[in-house]
Amino acid sequence: MRFFTNLSSLSQRRVLQLRNLLFVLALLPLARLVAFGFLGRLGANPIEFITRNTGDWALYFLCITLAVTPLRKLIRWNWLVRLRRMLGLYAFFYVALHFTIFFWLDHFFDMQEMWADIVKRPFITVGVLAFALLIPLAITSTNGMVRRLGGKRWQWLHRLTYVIVPLGVLHFWWVKAGKNLLAQPILFSAIVALLLLARVLSEKNRERLAQLWSRRGAGNTETTGTVLMKEGK
Ligand code: HEM
Repeated sequence: MRFFTNLSSLSQRRVLQLRNLLFVLALLPLARLVAFGFLGRLGANPIEFITRNTGDWALYFLCITLAVTPLRKLIRWNWLVRLRRMLGLYAFFYVALHFTIFFWLDHFFDMQEMWADIVKRPFITVGVLAFALLIPLAITSTNGMVRRLGGKRWQWLHRLTYVIVPLGVLHFWWVKAGKNLLAQPILFSAIVALLLLARVLSEKNRERLAQLWSRRGAGNTETTGTVLMKEGK
């Protein structure tokens, strides 16, 4: 318990150090792939190996990013939110790599052939949809874009995450269902469902507090404000 309390407030410097460490750690899966490439350890089907590996990491980073807010609320480590943008960008980075491998090594940059494949195979259609939806989120992830869009509009746009992650899981499910390997997709579906449920419940809480606020009127700001602070909003 003391461990959690000690970590509940970290100095700016510590958070920055942690972010730098995470930045390096998140590159390790890519470094591993490159090393395996040089050592000739990518297996009998290197394209499949790289596609699957980058797909796996894209999904891990998407889930970790989605977990930041519920976790922050649960254990009250508010500084976690300062790692979220980088985690989200890493999810985008691994999806982009995953897509590039598919476009390059599977289709040799032939747009027509790739398009035919996207239309023909529903699991790829879903993957491309998730990737397409991630692009505006990556583009608007800078502080400048938050200012330009305004907090509310930015927040609405970034709620696309709640569509993108389930689409990623559906894509994964489809890949594995073809091979009758559903244990991992079931696990990921359960994790994502729990995270989304936590999100919905906290939104409901916020609405309830907003109603409380309007019912009590502006005169009672201190009481409602205290409740909001206690809820960590
Ligand atoms: C958010 C977007 C995406 C996520 C999270 C994702 C994730 C994954 C995962 C986890 C796998 C299975 C890896 C394994 O077998 O362990 C996979 C496989 C695959 N994905 Fe994606 N993917 C995404 C988008 C895309 C896109 C845009 C394309 C191509 C246009 C694509 C093409 C493929 C292909 C070809 C496979 C391999 C299927 C096989 O092994 O038969 N994915 N993806």
